[in-house]
Amino acid sequence: MQFDILSLFPAALEGYYQSSILGRAQKQKLIRIRNFDLRDWARNKHRRVDDTPYGGGPGMVIRVDVVHRALTGIYTKKNKKTRVVLLTPRGKTFDQRAARRLLVYERVILIAGRYEAIDGRVDAYVDEKISIGDFVLTGGELAAACVIDAVSRLIPGVLGKEESMREESFDSFTKHGTTVEYPQYTKPENFRGARVPSVLLSGHHQKIKDWRTKHRKRKAIG
Ligand code: ADE
Repeated sequence: MQFDILSLFPAALEGYYQSSILGRAQKQKLIRIRNFDLRDWARNKHRRVDDTPYGGGPGMVIRVDVVHRALTGIYTKKNKKTRVVLLTPRGKTFDQRAARRLLVYERVILIAGRYEAIDGRVDAYVDEKISIGDFVLTGGELAAACVIDAVSRLIPGVLGKEESMREESFDSFTKHGTTVEYPQYTKPENFRGARVPSVLLSGHHQKIKDWRTKHRKRKAIG
């Protein structure tokens, strides 16, 4: 699966994409993440991609012609296997179900805006608008990273053996649409008087299972 990010700060999260599970998945060619700089499609010597809003008011607006050139520059032909996503606090709130839905695409293009706004005519190029929550970020880069991360870990092979076993033991999102987590502990057994529940040290598998069942927190996630 290929993710193409269009933003004004393409280097900002490069380290994140190269690290850990996403980095490994890229090396294994299970996913490909490309970062594009919207300014590469600006047509002035200052590489400006924004301008003042018609009708007045504060802030700047990202120009539609720049987005148009960027999109047509990175794909020659858009097909059914390509999804264009705009990250915006006005979008539909992202959740596990939305992540799963994106799995059917071979290519997801994520437009991450900055400043106050992006020209409303960009809507014509966009298949879906995603918000990662009811708060406003300084830009869409982090939101794009959340989407890429959540989708990537659902691609078969991206999670290692141990990571996916852990996922299964948590009663898998995919089967029930819930997270089922119980508290976990590791060494030391006694940290400044705070002790690990003794049942977990007992070696009694059934009792441990019962304890974990009792302490599970269910949360519906789509
Ligand atoms: N850009 C700024 N805030 C955002 C949010 N909450 N979700 C997606 N994109 C954003």
